[in-house]
Amino acid sequence: MFADRVLSGMRPTGRMHIGHYHGALKNWLRLQEEYECLYFAADWHALTTHYETPEHIEDSVWEMFIDWLAVGINPNRSTIFIQSRVIEHAELTLLLGMIAPVGGRERVPTYKNQQEKLSDRDLSTFGFLGYPVMQAADILIYRANMVPVGEDQVSHLELVRELARRLNHIYGRGPGVCVGYPEGARRMILPEPQPLLTDTPKVPGLDGQKMSKSYDNAIFLREEPASITTKVRTMQTDPARVRRSDPGNPAKCPVWPLHQIYSDQPTQEWVQKGGTTAGIGCLECKHPVIDAIIAEQLPFHERAQKYLDDPSLVRAIVADGCERARKLAEETMRDVREAMGLSYT
Ligand code: TRP
Repeated sequence: MFADRVLSGMRPTGRMHIGHYHGALKNWLRLQEEYECLYFAADWHALTTHYETPEHIEDSVWEMFIDWLAVGINPNRSTIFIQSRVIEHAELTLLLGMIAPVGGRERVPTYKNQQEKLSDRDLSTFGFLGYPVMQAADILIYRANMVPVGEDQVSHLELVRELARRLNHIYGRGPGVCVGYPEGARRMILPEPQPLLTDTPKVPGLDGQKMSKSYDNAIFLREEPASITTKVRTMQTDPARVRRSDPGNPAKCPVWPLHQIYSDQPTQEWVQKGGTTAGIGCLECKHPVIDAIIAEQLPFHERAQKYLDDPSLVRAIVADGCERARKLAEETMRDVREAMGLSYT
């Protein structure tokens, strides 16, 4: 009934790093070749946890968009927009709230994780509690059926599907709701979306932990080559390999996962063999990774330049995206309002 449509969002955290690229953006690039895609900056989501520091949101959003464009998100194929510029997300969040169960929130792993991780903040707020409902609205309002997300978001998607089912069940029946449907049959108002889980590599940070700007262990997209070189050269390696003559264990070395992402088979074999026999030194081993990251980013720098030179280009692309998104959202809301007794014709 509805065309294949992909939707995904990211919280604006500022400059993107190679973890975002290999974990999400590369997948977005593939999807835009095949499907209608909508990608948005989840600025309201940022406020659910960072409501006390709103001053970072705006700059982060623009930096994030430049990175999306730099890696090749094509505004002629993909609609890129800002959540809060499509006010209908708020309306659908409110309406879904009417049928969203409050219990069970504790079962969602990210809820607890986040509360623990962000224990310095008071997250006993309505906004934080309700953010999965907002996420459901983000997706359902575009009738998206494919949602590329990370593993941690799967339980949220389950709630999104549950809310779509509930809404269709409660409001999608009755005579004459939809021409061509038998009397009493249910009408699908909002289709249930599927998570698109791709096997994305985990990119460790410079210290072997998860790569994150806040851990100060990230290699950014569009870094200067000299800076990439310094960062990788000073990266920790297998801690047991103290001297050049000690053999190393790639499985214990944070550089190895980078080889798995960036190096071809012969290079990986060279690393395995050279590392375990102390045939190559750590610096030598890092060179192919440094070269590959720098090479990967060359086109990013090139694409970003015109947006850096003229930021109004990004503003225009996003304004256009917001308008396109709003049109789609408005269509869905007409149906939802009507189904929920709010059409006032
Ligand atoms: N919650 C997601 C995150 O923290 C971001 C997000 C918000 C999202 N709304 C979405 C992702 C809708 C996919 C679809 O990463």
